[in-house]
Amino acid sequence: MVYGSGWSDNMEEFCCHFCGKSWAQDLFRTFCRDCGEPLLCKETVGQKEIHWEQSNPLRRYIDFLPLREIFPALDLGTGDTPLLTCPSLAEQLHLPRLYAKNESQNPTGSFKDRGTLVAVQKAHQSGISRIGTVSTGNMAASTAAFGARAGLRTFVLVKEDTGKEKLLSSAAYGPRIMRVRGDYGKLFRHSYEIGINKNIYFINSVDPMRLEGYKVTAFEIYAQMSCAAPDFVFVPVSAGGHIIGLMRAFLNLREMGHIASSPTFIGIQAEGCSPIVQAYEKGLDRVERLSGADTIAQAISNPDPPGGNIVLDMIRSGGGSLLSVSDREILSAQGQLAGQEGLFVLPASATTLAGLIKYHRNNPIGPDKSCVLILTGSGLKGLSNFSGSLGALPCYELSEIEAGIE
Ligand SMILES: Cc1ncc(COP(=O)(O)O)c(C=O)c1O
Ligand SMILES: [Zn+2]
Repeated sequence: MVYGSGWSDNMEEFCCHFCGKSWAQDLFRTFCRDCGEPLLCKETVGQKEIHWEQSNPLRRYIDFLPLREIFPALDLGTGDTPLLTCPSLAEQLHLPRLYAKNESQNPTGSFKDRGTLVAVQKAHQSGISRIGTVSTGNMAASTAAFGARAGLRTFVLVKEDTGKEKLLSSAAYGPRIMRVRGDYGKLFRHSYEIGINKNIYFINSVDPMRLEGYKVTAFEIYAQMSCAAPDFVFVPVSAGGHIIGLMRAFLNLREMGHIASSPTFIGIQAEGCSPIVQAYEKGLDRVERLSGADTIAQAISNPDPPGGNIVLDMIRSGGGSLLSVSDREILSAQGQLAGQEGLFVLPASATTLAGLIKYHRNNPIGPDKSCVLILTGSGLKGLSNFSGSLGALPCYELSEIEAGIE
């Protein structure tokens, strides 16, 4: 079997979702030079197969990816995460077919590894020796880990006020970390100029290769549901890259005749930073940048989401929806996932359950429908601002313990 046989020559092109223009693939120029929108890998013609016999997830789905070859040594064990039932929540919500795709089981504890893996494979194939990212947390740790693994010099640009816990989770891998003053959106855009001048491939939130990596999560869900698409998928949305990748994967499966229709995607933002939801509710086709963010769900608090316009368009044309949830609803959902299902996730990830509860209240979902929550990151990554209260913890003498147990 020749891997990548489903890709024709135009796999080397990027295209613009909005103006339809194609551009030669250049990892250093990943935004449309005409309209400024993030570029996506060009979809190719030709039959694509799933190579079920492959144990490596990238090799299994390579026909759908912009890679000709896979180098397993660059991986840290990404993917093949479990699709778990949620028996307690399923009963409570009258949704017997409720599942959680636990992306916190990826090597650095978040879904970001999926995208970093594909981008680093591409960097390796392209002879690139320096990579970077602009991030405040999960993406920085993921890029730093895979950069270390691949022997690439890695640059992490962070906001000046980034917390110690987040810095440490990247610093462990030895990247060059640079704290930068000023606006995060400007830093994001400026990073591409630095990349061109200094020969650094910036694998930021909407990097086209990163998005292709996110598709593999959707293919796994399809496989784990016995070759079917779920009815609903609930995803937290910040820059927009993750949900775009997931939606593209189901479109790929539909185009290839593997599924009759795509799932209904529900994208969720936190009320304290919901620029895409606001544009959706106002009926706009362009997202308006917010001046700031105020939410417990820090991992999804991008006030100027680069993929926002594409998300709006894909959600509208795919029949999905976007909604926001409050910090109170997020914390309550975080507690439910941990206390009822044993799943301790970041507030950003708990938005999926909060969003499901809200959506289900307003648009009751039938008990025959399958729903998947994408749990994007481990709660262990946000311990310093975890507000799950320990309460007053009394301390006992050995002789008092038994009397203290009811
Ligand atoms: C834990 C977690 N969930 C969800 C997201 C949102 O992903 P995206 O920015 O691709 O929309 C992020 C992004 O950083 C994240 O860290
Ligand atoms: Zn364009």
